[in-house]
Amino acid sequence: MNSNIEQAVEILRGGGLVAFPTETVYGLGADATNASAVERIYAVKGRPTTNPVIVHVADIERAQRYALDWPETAQKLAEQFWPGPLTMVLPKSPQIVDQVTAGLATVGLRVPNHPLALELLRAFDGPVGAPSANRSMRISPTTADHVREELGDDVQLILDGGPCDVGIESTVLDLSGDQPCVLRPGMVTRAMIEQVIGPVAMGKPLGDTHQPALAPGQQLTHYAPRTLAFRFNATQAVRISTDGVGIIDIAGIDRPRFNEATITLPSDPEQYARHFYAALRQLDRMDLKAIYVEMPPDAPAWAPVRDRIRRATRPMA
Ligand code: TXA
Ligand code: MG
Repeated sequence: MNSNIEQAVEILRGGGLVAFPTETVYGLGADATNASAVERIYAVKGRPTTNPVIVHVADIERAQRYALDWPETAQKLAEQFWPGPLTMVLPKSPQIVDQVTAGLATVGLRVPNHPLALELLRAFDGPVGAPSANRSMRISPTTADHVREELGDDVQLILDGGPCDVGIESTVLDLSGDQPCVLRPGMVTRAMIEQVIGPVAMGKPLGDTHQPALAPGQQLTHYAPRTLAFRFNATQAVRISTDGVGIIDIAGIDRPRFNEATITLPSDPEQYARHFYAALRQLDRMDLKAIYVEMPPDAPAWAPVRDRIRRATRPMA
């Protein structure tokens, strides 16, 4: 076994924290059956204890151990999308400590699609609670360097699996109620889910990201840069005064480059998602007056990206 994995398992067994790569973003992991280990996640992140943490497992069989109920819909979706960027919310087994789920009776479960994550989860052979490995309200890390930048010495070990492939957090699908409901859009889209299990509701549309939290699990998390950040559409582009600001725009639109701090991201949603957080971080390091992010088209394939942009920015005045 990879010696880093051995070390990681030892740390997890001892109640410590390990950062590890997934296909979406890097996670900050702890043993989900150990209350004090999970409390350390909240402490290190500065995370409100009302915000539940996702539990990661190596395969479907292990996921079933930590859900009290495993409906047919869960089985079908797991077979279709795991390992992959889909988290399913199900009634939780008592083995998962209440700290993981912020006191909720449900748990978010997922099997990540990353070889290092899977190796770690198999070797640990237990449930690993892991939020994204950033300080609360900050941009999720998509490289090991981002994790170092965020958490420094507060994390005992960072497994480096290179840049994340998907680049934004998993889809969160609630299967614990009467109707399946997407609580957080992700690259496993509503349409993809509906092809497998039929009609799916969307959670409350994301309102103003600067409002206080509603209920556990429903926080309108920011994922925000430190720099003041705005979003803009094509008609607003001409009103940006480009001096000393950073801009993220989209390839394929016929316009001159705004300024030297412009990052042009691909016009394909999957490619865009892969690079978005790194681009935001790069501009955030530059000590700019503001960051402007161009809103992609209002199309289903862009829904997860648009959600993350909305959380990271405010509308241009
Ligand atoms: O892609 C991901 O999901 C990454 C990687 C590390 O797996 N993790 C991640 O975790 O984004 P985090 O903590 O940043 O986001 C977890 C979100 C919560 O804010 C909440 O919205 C939802 O997942 N969630 C987790 N458990 C839930 C539950 N029992 N009920 C409702 N929502 C839940
Ligand atoms: Mg997060």
